[in-house]
Amino acid sequence: MSLTIDRDRLLSEIDTLASFSDAEAPAVTRIVFTPADLQARAWMKARCEEAGLTVRQDAVGNIFARWNGSEPAAPVVGTGSHIDAIPNAGKYDGVVGVLGGLEAIRALRQSGFRPKHSVELLIFTSEEPTRFGIGCLGSRLLSGTLSPEAARKLTDNDGATLDEVRHRAGFGGELERVKLPIGYYQAFIELHIEQGPLLERRQIPLGIVAKIAAPASLRVLIEGSGGHAGGVLMPDRRDALCAAAELILAIESAARSSGAVDTVATVGMCEVFPGAVNSIPSRVRLSVDIRDTDLQRRDVVIRTFEATSKAVSAKRQVSIQIELLNADAPADCAPALIEAISQSCRQHELNFLPMVSRAYHDSLFVARIAPVAMLFIPCRNGYSHRPDEYSHPDDIARGTLVLAETLAALSG
Ligand code: HGY
Ligand code: MN
Ligand code: MN
Repeated sequence: MSLTIDRDRLLSEIDTLASFSDAEAPAVTRIVFTPADLQARAWMKARCEEAGLTVRQDAVGNIFARWNGSEPAAPVVGTGSHIDAIPNAGKYDGVVGVLGGLEAIRALRQSGFRPKHSVELLIFTSEEPTRFGIGCLGSRLLSGTLSPEAARKLTDNDGATLDEVRHRAGFGGELERVKLPIGYYQAFIELHIEQGPLLERRQIPLGIVAKIAAPASLRVLIEGSGGHAGGVLMPDRRDALCAAAELILAIESAARSSGAVDTVATVGMCEVFPGAVNSIPSRVRLSVDIRDTDLQRRDVVIRTFEATSKAVSAKRQVSIQIELLNADAPADCAPALIEAISQSCRQHELNFLPMVSRAYHDSLFVARIAPVAMLFIPCRNGYSHRPDEYSHPDDIARGTLVLAETLAALSG
């Protein structure tokens, strides 16, 4: 089968999608259900319809663009990713999997290929945790990993519930109807930038993911007592920010001393109240991200952190509440799908690297209801979640070609 990837169109679509943003270019900020996100969704749906796909969206805003196969009752072959972006991000994270997936389908249709199994491009809602504190909201609901009851309890930083926000964005319907049954998808393949430096460092053009790391996120509330920065003497203080500083270093040291390079921990947010230079912090909220490819090791970091918090709370006479937002199992990718991708790489004499994904992805949750695999392309210096995130056009086109051939092999 000879496939032609329209690289120029793909690159210009990546640039157009990046223009739907609440940040100055080259940064991209596109938080779920904001006007920028809704514009991006509308534009994406128009591109999918233009490509001849049948588009639907579910109650939480997951978008499905379907190419009907000759056997409509056969399980579907899915591909896709996300288009929401954290603050001050780049323009490739998630987008390469969505626009690359669309381009792969267009190239297959153009080539005269006709699938037996329907092929579906998915755009998942809220892969990023920015607005509701939990990542992969759309794919969690779709796979039944998150219950509608638990989802309804989620609120954003303004205290608005998921239902309020999604209804305002035009997404009605029952969250109970989002879940798809096991067997709905025969396979799901996600094309994504590596978000790490290995492929570029090893000069290997493609990565095939064997395992997706296990993410956990926690919210920590530290409450001490505030007061005047001049009038309260040191022995009398219960400074919430000093307690937080001990916790932050404790998390770092717990990850560093896990005995494995795959254990990572990050305190990405630190909100200080009241936030005045001459007022002792009385309340601090930390957002913590802990991951590992090994569940036990990751959970040891969580337990170590909990024990340290108890000790710091007693020593500093501050209260420390830890809320575990999510602690997910890792996912193994399906050997048959890994083989299908490898075959296409070998056909084109493309070297590939079997890898672990330390970033989590929607595939982590689709894996609860279907066999999944992920295909990585290099990103410069491994940078991601920052405006200088960059993947070379050759790598994007190569990844899209291998994705297209894999989709054909699985749906033919
Ligand atoms: O954080 C992650 O791993 C993903 O990029 N949301
Ligand atoms: Mn991301
Ligand atoms: Mn992503």
